[in-house]
Amino acid sequence: MEFIIAEDYEGMSRAAADVVAGVMADDPSCVLGLATGSTPIGMYACLADDCAQGKISFKDVTTFNLDEYVGLPGTHDQSYRYFMDENLFNKVDVNKTSTHLPDGCAGNLDQMCAEYEAQIQQAGGVDIQVLGIGHNGHIGFNEPCEDFPVATHPVDLTESTINANSRLFDDVADVPRRAVTMGIGTIMKAHKVLVVANGSGKAAIVKEAFTGPVVPSVPASVLQLHPDVTIVLDSEAASELELM
Ligand code: GLP
Repeated sequence: MEFIIAEDYEGMSRAAADVVAGVMADDPSCVLGLATGSTPIGMYACLADDCAQGKISFKDVTTFNLDEYVGLPGTHDQSYRYFMDENLFNKVDVNKTSTHLPDGCAGNLDQMCAEYEAQIQQAGGVDIQVLGIGHNGHIGFNEPCEDFPVATHPVDLTESTINANSRLFDDVADVPRRAVTMGIGTIMKAHKVLVVANGSGKAAIVKEAFTGPVVPSVPASVLQLHPDVTIVLDSEAASELELM
């Protein structure tokens, strides 16, 4: 695991965008695995700036997002499709038909999940998977559990995740109780993984996930077993790490 520690959120965002831009420069038709949440918003803004300045292009890029709420259509302002359109896709030259998110409104979620996995494989797999990390160590919506879930699957959200995400909804009762997420196996198959985290609220889980034991009760800890992980932090999120 490589750690990059930036001073602040802006520095973290720029450093993370540089990692993604590097993959895009090496392979302009790469497959990006993308994440939502507040953490990567600055990184997406940097990538949109890079694209506007002609430094990178999304023209031939394919994207697959990690997760989506069950029951929210893409027109809902808290759906992850809406988030991606607003924060990245509408600001760059990506071909929208090459952008994929799990369909949380599918009639048959299990079938949709199997098709999503197949689409990722058909695209040649994910070249770089961007991840944020939840306060309980979740990645995507893989919540703490007894076994690492392998493939894309529907999931019941924990109360802690519902509460954490309720800040974005008018009322906690409006937060969907279920989601669809890539599995840990899907994430681990990505050729490269990029984790972003900022703020003192993430310091404890960053330390636990990346320096503690690999256990499914801390889903992000599994990344210690991935051969190519870059973790970009601001100084607050890194504050509990004791790095050599
Ligand atoms: C959400 C998302 C995750 C995200 C995490 C952290 O529930 N499903 O993909 O990484 O929580 O979000 P934030 O970056 O807002 O702290």
